[in-house]
Amino acid sequence: MQVETLVAVPVVLVAFVFYLTHNRTGLPRVGKSGPLGFILTALKSITSFADLLDEGLNKYGGKAFVVPTMAGSFIIAGPENVDLFKSSDDTAINQPIFIDESLQLMHTLNSRQQAIPFSTVVIRTDLTRAISAFIPEILEETRLVMSEAFALPFGEKSTTLPLFHTMTHLVARISNRAMLGPSICRQEQYLHDIIRFAETLPIYAQLLTWFPRILRGPLYFLLSSAFGGPKEPARVIIPHLKTLLAEREQGLESAKTITDFLINLAPPEEIADVKLLAMRVLNLNFGSIHTSSIFGTHALFHLATLSESELDTIRHEIIEALESEGGYSKASLAKMRILDSTLREVGRFYALGVVGLNRVLIKPASLVDGTVVPSGYNITIPLKPIHFDESVYPEPYKFDCFRFSKLRASERTDLKYGFTRVEKDFVPFGLGKHACPGRFFASMELKIILSHLLLNYDLSLPGGAKEAPKPMFFNSTVIPDTKACVVLKPRVGQAGQDL
Ligand code: HEM
Ligand SMILES: *[C@@H]1O[C@H](CO)[C@@H](O)[C@H](O)[C@H]1NC(C)=O
Ligand SMILES: *[C@@H]1O[C@H](CO)[C@@H](O)[C@H](O)[C@H]1NC(C)=O
Repeated sequence: MQVETLVAVPVVLVAFVFYLTHNRTGLPRVGKSGPLGFILTALKSITSFADLLDEGLNKYGGKAFVVPTMAGSFIIAGPENVDLFKSSDDTAINQPIFIDESLQLMHTLNSRQQAIPFSTVVIRTDLTRAISAFIPEILEETRLVMSEAFALPFGEKSTTLPLFHTMTHLVARISNRAMLGPSICRQEQYLHDIIRFAETLPIYAQLLTWFPRILRGPLYFLLSSAFGGPKEPARVIIPHLKTLLAEREQGLESAKTITDFLINLAPPEEIADVKLLAMRVLNLNFGSIHTSSIFGTHALFHLATLSESELDTIRHEIIEALESEGGYSKASLAKMRILDSTLREVGRFYALGVVGLNRVLIKPASLVDGTVVPSGYNITIPLKPIHFDESVYPEPYKFDCFRFSKLRASERTDLKYGFTRVEKDFVPFGLGKHACPGRFFASMELKIILSHLLLNYDLSLPGGAKEAPKPMFFNSTVIPDTKACVVLKPRVGQAGQDL
C-alpha cells in the first residue's frame, strides 16, 4: 500500500507537469508522440536512456534532438558542439546551475556549494600542488587497506571478492586519508556512513526533482533521516574540524590534509559555523569516491582478462619505473604508461555515463549547425559519437588496455594520450573551465592502487573468464556490474612484491 502510494503520487504529478511542459523546443524528439508518449518515453529513460540516445543518433544523424526524461525535455546536441560548450562562460550554457539542480544541492548539502565554489578552487590549486606530498600517505594507506581487505579466508590460497563494493571501500578509505587523516579514515563506521551518503545522494536528488519544489525540503529531511543522510558522517567530521580549529588558535601546526586546505580558504562564516565546513568535506567525498571507484573497477575487470604474459609486461614496466625513480613519486607514476593507458581507455569506453558536459541553457543559444535552442532546457552532448569515432579510435568497440601506451611508444611522445589530458576527442572529465580539477589526484591514487595490487596479487576473473563483466546502465549513468567478482591470490616471493 505504502509503496503504491509512493509510486502513484509522483507518477500522477509528473504526468500533470509533463502534459503542461511537453517538448516545445522545436526540435525532433525520440519516443512515442503526444503527451502520453512523452510520459511513457520519460519513464523508459530511467532504465533505457542509452537506447533512446542511440535511437536519436541514428534517426537524426548528429543533429540536435530531444530525449524526454523524468526531469523534462533533455536536449541532445551534436558532437560538433564540443568546442562551443568548452569555451562557454556559463552566461548561456551554464554548468553550476545544472549541477545544483541535478544533485538538488540546496537540499542535499546547501546552496552555498555552487554559489561560493571555494572548495573547487582548493582541489584545483592546493590539492593538485600537493600531489607529491600525498604520495607516501596514499601508498601507506593502500598497503594497509589491501592487506586487510584481501586477507585470505582460513585455509584458502586465494580470495574472491565483489570488486565494485570492495573498490568503493578501498577508495573511500584511501581518499579520506588525504581528506581527513589516518585516524578518521580507519573508522569503519565513518566509512560506511560516508559511502552510504555518497550512494544515496544522487538517488534522493532524482526523487526530489519529481516533486514540487515546496515539498522537496521536508521530503529530503524524511528520506535522509531514515537512511544515508549527512548526519552520521558529520558526527565524525564536525568534532575533527573543531579540533583542527582549536589547534590553530593555539598556533599548533596541524597535519596537511585536504581539510586543512579547506580551512585556509574558507570564508569566515564557514569557520564560525563548522557545520557549513563539514558540508564541503561531504561534497568532496561525494565527488571523489564513486568516480574513482567506478574507474578503478572497470580497469581491474579488464586487466583481469589479460594473459599472464601481458600482465607480466605491465608488472615489468611498473618495477622498472619504481627502480629507476627510487620508489613511488610523480616521476615513477608518469612512467607507468600501460596503467595510464588502461585508465584512459576506461574513460573513453565507459566514462561515467553516455552523455557528458551536462548543462542548462539560461539564455537561448545557437548551435554550430545554426539551430537555435530556447532557454530553460537541459542540454548535453552524447559521448558515443566522440569516443567511438572510428577515424580517431580504430576498432572503437574493442577495449584495449594498451591502446594509448602503444600510440605513445610508436609516436615517441609523452605529451599526448595521457589519462588526465582532456581534449575534444576525450571528455570523461569534461572540458573547459569546469573540467574535473580532481583528475590529477584521482590518477595518482588509481595508479598507486592498481600498481600495488598487480605487484602483490595475481588477478583473474572467476572460472578463468576472459571477458570483462558487462556494465550496468541506470538512466544516463554507466557503472560496473556491482555483483561481479575477481579472484586475488598473493604473489608471495615474486619479483616486485612489497614494492
Ligand atoms: C576518475 C575519477 C573522476 C572522474 C571521471 C571525474 C569526472 C568529473 C566530471 C565529468 C566533472 C564535471 C565536468 C563538467 O561538467 O564539465 C567533474 C567535476 C568535478 N570533480 Fe571530478 N572526477 C573524478 C575524480 C574527482 C576527484 C578525486 C575529485 C576531488 C578530489 C573531484 C572533484 C571534482 C570537482 C570539485 C568538480 C567540479 C568542477 C567545477 O564545477 O568547476 N573529481 N569531475
Ligand atoms: C534539468 O535537470 C534537472 C535535474 O535532473 C531538473 O531538476 C530540472 O527540472 C531540469 N530542467 C529542465 C528545464 O528540464
Ligand atoms: C538522468 O540523467 C540526466 C543527465 O545526467 C539527469 O539530468 C536526469 O535528472 C536523470 N534522470 C533520472 C530519472 O535519473
